[in-house]
Amino acid sequence: MKIFRHIAPLKSYLGEIGSFGYTIGLVPTMGALHNGHLALIEASKKDNSVTIATIYVNPAQFNNATDLQKYPRTLDNDLQMLEKVGCDAVFCPDDAEMYEQPPIVKFDFGHLDKVMEGKFRPGHFSGVALVVSKLFNLVSPNRAYFGQKDWQQVAVIRRLVGELKFNLSICSVPIVREPDGLAMSSRNQRLDPVQRQHSTVLYRGLTWAREALKSGSSPEAVKTAVKAMVEELPDMRLEYLELSDSDSLEPLDAVITSAKPILCIAAYAGEVRLIDNLFLD
Ligand code: PAF
Repeated sequence: MKIFRHIAPLKSYLGEIGSFGYTIGLVPTMGALHNGHLALIEASKKDNSVTIATIYVNPAQFNNATDLQKYPRTLDNDLQMLEKVGCDAVFCPDDAEMYEQPPIVKFDFGHLDKVMEGKFRPGHFSGVALVVSKLFNLVSPNRAYFGQKDWQQVAVIRRLVGELKFNLSICSVPIVREPDGLAMSSRNQRLDPVQRQHSTVLYRGLTWAREALKSGSSPEAVKTAVKAMVEELPDMRLEYLELSDSDSLEPLDAVITSAKPILCIAAYAGEVRLIDNLFLD
């Protein structure tokens, strides 16, 4: 597996493989890899001749300095995991390589970044769009892979690619869960054993809410019930539970008003912020 810390040698490698006409799958990550990331690598390996992962904790997408500082960084372990699953190359730049100057470009995705994550993490999707655009320009992949756990991110990146006419396809890969239902996330590493146990309430809340909505309960009643379910556990706090159309992310007041509704949840376990989601069908 090739490891690149700088853009110039990455470009030479891309030039070499480009001359063979290989297709490239890009898997952007912030490291602290888990099986959810490995599912992205596997999907890319199936579809493309060459898979390139990136590992970069992008400061521009953090609106909370403590969250950025505490984001787990496990590069040696990440590289071993990628090598084991047969990833072809990894680009793991530092801040100076990615941001020669402090960034001034901002993205505004209208409604798409004003709800849910965008509402509670202002500027987050602008930072994501900035770094993802840089990576698309640097690597020129045929396909790029993102996990469905960050469903709103998938919606924003699809819009970015459509509007800026990036010549690539966005592939979204289903959530990978722990045996007790908790969605795999790099942030799970920060949970203490009690918080880890309590965090299963996100998925329990989602599955309960899905059944309640299908049986005709109103989204408002369901939100109130899930908030109570989450917050009866010490140290747990619900930030939002939203029923939305999965394409437009417009909030829904009833399941039947969308062809493909999705339930999205965000909650804190102590100071660790977790998200999850579930399609209704
Ligand atoms: O989903 C993530 O890990 C990040 O938001 C991404 C897409 C790698 C951009 O930094």
